[in-house]
Amino acid sequence: METLVVDHPLVAHKLTALRDVTTDSPTFRRLADELVTLLAYEATRQVRVTELTVRTPVAPATGVRLAQPYPLVVPILRAGLGMLEGMTRLLPTAEVGFLGMIRDESTLQAQTYATRLPEDLSGRQVYVLDPMLATGGTLAAAIRFLFDRGADDVTAICLLAAPEGIAHLDEALSDAGRPVRLVTAALDERLNENGYIVPGLGDAGDRLYGVV
Ligand code: URA
Repeated sequence: METLVVDHPLVAHKLTALRDVTTDSPTFRRLADELVTLLAYEATRQVRVTELTVRTPVAPATGVRLAQPYPLVVPILRAGLGMLEGMTRLLPTAEVGFLGMIRDESTLQAQTYATRLPEDLSGRQVYVLDPMLATGGTLAAAIRFLFDRGADDVTAICLLAAPEGIAHLDEALSDAGRPVRLVTAALDERLNENGYIVPGLGDAGDRLYGVV
């Protein structure tokens, strides 16, 4: 899997504030939103475009526009929702599908509890949003689900990643035969015994939306 850790002082600045335990929910939401837009800029480097010619007030100019079918953005519920606006700000014509996955805290296995996606994803470039790549179980299951529906290539955007999660994705998707990319703001040290990223930022869903 191609992994890009975005190295930029603004990314590092926003991530540091997100990590800070004293950052409140409204600020956390705003910073996550801004950080995703910065990550999305890098994540969309390979978005498909077609050439076209427009007329400027002076002369014809060749350029590009997003190719169709437009990309599909898939936030993984619930925490991925906190990344959606930051992503669609950069890709306003993208379609949005939803995938509800939850991690069973005792087994750490991912389970699907909701889907709202086109049945046929043939030829689609898909951007999956999930703030924390921890064990990788949820993301691997989500990407497998998208490939099973025919997605062409998948780019996962995560605020943070753990080495264990990257290794799991590499192994779980080794037979996928289609490109998978990961774009993240940082690669942290490890997971702790509860499956949390260390040093991480805690539970992303709770910090975005509170504990329900
Ligand atoms: N999910 C989170 O929200 N945080 C972690 O550290 C790991 C998984």
